Amino acid sequence: MRGAQITGWGLSLPDTVVTNADFEARLDTSDKWIVERTGIKERRHGGTTSGLAVESARRALERAGRRGQEIDLLVLATTSPDQTVPATSSWVHHQLGCRGAAFDLNAACAGFVYGLVTAVALLDAGHERALVIGSDTLSQITDQNDRNTAVLFGDGSGAVVVEATEGEPLILAHDLGLDGSLTRILYCDRGGFIVMEGREVFRKAVRATVESAERVLKQADVTAEEITLFIPHQANIRIIDAVGQRLGIDPARYAICLDHTGNTSAASCGIALSEAADAGRLKDGDLVLFSGFGAGMTWASAVVRWGGAPVATIGAGGPGERE
Ligand code: ACO
Repeated sequence: MRGAQITGWGLSLPDTVVTNADFEARLDTSDKWIVERTGIKERRHGGTTSGLAVESARRALERAGRRGQEIDLLVLATTSPDQTVPATSSWVHHQLGCRGAAFDLNAACAGFVYGLVTAVALLDAGHERALVIGSDTLSQITDQNDRNTAVLFGDGSGAVVVEATEGEPLILAHDLGLDGSLTRILYCDRGGFIVMEGREVFRKAVRATVESAERVLKQADVTAEEITLFIPHQANIRIIDAVGQRLGIDPARYAICLDHTGNTSAASCGIALSEAADAGRLKDGDLVLFSGFGAGMTWASAVVRWGGAPVATIGAGGPGERE
């Protein structure tokens, strides 16, 4: 397998902060209930899926020292595209001035990890440099008067630049899956709002995430103790705790952003990764476990080796040209 490396990361959140107190003021809910049952304190609403994607991608490109035209593969994971046609990635590709391929990928909240695995496979197949973006504006498809769902979701985007290298593989093991018999526990009809059987999603999410994470740890021949950072999909802190406990990963090693973002669907793992990387929580050689689940019901896990020894990137515009 060809080598690959994450060379840049970035996130974008809309400006409008919606606190639990805002919901408390107009719905039959309370800050106490929301924090205890979900871990969410506030979330952001606003922007468009493409606009947030462009912003997070620009930050990732800047961090990588790259320009849009150096990207030959753009994977945009989203469940809330700006339009049905064309793909939202078309707008993002144009605004960033990328070249080569771009497409949307809908694997719901497992989208970022699905996108990362897909991009790395395409780098292995010959692409040089990829942008993987998770971007969602679920506030637009959530009934803001339904306490069961309104308090859970927020808008945002997280992005990474992934470059083919002559070094080590980025992904040591991955597991992508779906159980289509569970489509009716979480869905949104065209023009409608998200409908969710919360308790059922909770139960299935814990089981799917644990099993998927265990599969990749085994495949990668890595123990839970060797994982430096666990980056789960950010739906509910109780789901994350249940998964972490079963895997044997202590909370100090979780990357958590849901307290201030809510569930940002395909963006969540990208946002959590960017915040953790910005906070200096990752160093070369660290092992990262990603694990996401979402409507479908999809799941996706990957063991990623962060950074690595300095390597030559493939094709024109290697790291030397970034100086
Ligand atoms: N405030 C107060 N009470 C509430 C609220 C609220 N915001 N929301 C629900 N309740 C009530 C329910 O109506 C229910 O009342 P009842 O007993 O009178 O019927 C009660 O609280 C308990 O409901 P439960 O469903 O048992 O609560 P639970 O502890 O399971 O928490 C929650 C609900 C937070 C939705 C949880 O089930 C959950 O997080 N599920 C997973 C959701 C998820 O991950 N969704 C995203 C998937 S990713 C994607 O693809 C978009």
